[in-house]
Amino acid sequence: MKAVTCSLGEPGLLPAASRRRIRRRLAAAVLAPLLLFLAAEVSFPSQPRLAPRNDAAASSSSPSSSSSPPPPRRDGQPQPQAQQQRVAVCLVGGARRFELTGPSIARHVLAPLLAGASAADVFLHSPLDADAWKLSVLARAAPPGASLAAVRVFRPGRIAVTPARARALTAEHSPKGVQGLLQYFHLVEGCLDLIRERESRGNFTYAWVLRTRVDGFWSAPLDPDGAFHPAAFVVPEGSRFGGLNDRLGAGAREASGAALTRLSALPRLAAAGYRDLNSESAFRAQLRAAGVPARERRFPFCVLSDRTYSFPPWARSAVPVASLGSPGPLSGAKCRPCRPACRGGCVARHLARLHRGWSWTEWRNGTLELCDASGPWEPGWEALFDEVAGAEAAALRRSVARMGAGECVAEVEALRARAERWDAPSPAEMCRLRFGVRSRPADRPGNSSAGGDTDATVTITEH
Ligand SMILES: *[C@@H]1O[C@H](CO)[C@@H](O)[C@H](O)[C@H]1NC(C)=O
Ligand SMILES: *[C@@H]1O[C@H](CO)[C@@H](O)[C@H](O)[C@H]1NC(C)=O
Ligand SMILES: *[C@@H]1O[C@H](CO)[C@@H](O)[C@H](O)[C@H]1NC(C)=O
Repeated sequence: MKAVTCSLGEPGLLPAASRRRIRRRLAAAVLAPLLLFLAAEVSFPSQPRLAPRNDAAASSSSPSSSSSPPPPRRDGQPQPQAQQQRVAVCLVGGARRFELTGPSIARHVLAPLLAGASAADVFLHSPLDADAWKLSVLARAAPPGASLAAVRVFRPGRIAVTPARARALTAEHSPKGVQGLLQYFHLVEGCLDLIRERESRGNFTYAWVLRTRVDGFWSAPLDPDGAFHPAAFVVPEGSRFGGLNDRLGAGAREASGAALTRLSALPRLAAAGYRDLNSESAFRAQLRAAGVPARERRFPFCVLSDRTYSFPPWARSAVPVASLGSPGPLSGAKCRPCRPACRGGCVARHLARLHRGWSWTEWRNGTLELCDASGPWEPGWEALFDEVAGAEAAALRRSVARMGAGECVAEVEALRARAERWDAPSPAEMCRLRFGVRSRPADRPGNSSAGGDTDATVTITEH
């Protein structure tokens, strides 16, 4: 069995002292709810059991099939595989602006997870397009000790709209219709496939799974204590669009299995009588059907988007676009680098009107500053980004912007070398889509809807 030790390059971005602090906190934080959960399980034996257990197919007789996550490790002492607390991190979606979001994910998601778990394995699932080469940023930015368990970059193709899928879903509010939803569901569920493959190869199960988006920009460290709940699936607060925010999800292995099977849940949902679901309401329905309770929490990330939205957001269903530099936490709201067009009382005026079950997001206490996102990103956005993201991220942004075809191939080769599993076109092919003769935007593959930007939104402005 191959040990998951291959490190991902440059030294971590988190100072050792703060890693130690986070590790101590995580140890205490994970243990407390765990004990509560065990107590609850004793008192209410009929409750659905959400703690991780093995997939029968993966390792039916492995000793790791305990009924609750093993305690986290504080030290690096060797111990039996079954005792380890392993976390799987799913990153899904198009790599559009990954040179901006990747370093923030490495620093604020991977490093804190790694500090508290015995292993943090990254699974990347992305469509092949002219930006896929940017995934190589991960090889440079990821903290040492993080393992790149699998990279799958697939050629987008049409997904069949079966009668059951058509019955369960609605094209309304989805910019790319039912096909867009199916593409997004495939993207998410594909990550679970990668996790299962890794588990069955290694004869173990992950204790926890965190799923988030390649286009998430993190402004502060993930708090693993708040993210992982032993008896519930945790999602960001706000941006509910009639269901549950599906821009991030965290949970124990079994609950994550129920949460990530987005495509294969559709026939069951249709049979159960669900109709006209969008991404968020389908997500809520499938968790309910699986008996998994959901909890909302605020997370310090936003979804970096190039899309345009009407401004000011007058309609109750308008989508607010936050300034990247907002104090936050932005809890998965849309964002871009901008000079805020609206702050304080102006934000209160617009956000207080938003429908709480739809595009609303927390704005009080000065959390949020709004961009005028009715046009493209403003001139000078690079400097605005650099100021928020810090010197290291700025340096990486500049080096990616300067990259040519030769460096691209070298960088993607480095990514491939780090990956335990590589199910993607050759580095040369991925770079050719951007730098080669066939790199004009009109020729980009994957202008289908495989990039995963399927959020139910209503007010997309015309150009
Ligand atoms: C996985 O577990 C099965 C059953 O216990 C065992 O037969 C097999 O050898 C194990 N494989 C590895 C790679 O450890
Ligand atoms: C606003 O800040 C106060 C004081 O720190 C805090 O008690 C309250 O929960 C905050 N409200 C929100 C919505 O963040
Ligand atoms: C991309 O868009 C062009 C023009 O709209 C279209 O002809 C082509 O089939 C699209 N490609 C994919 C993969 O959807």
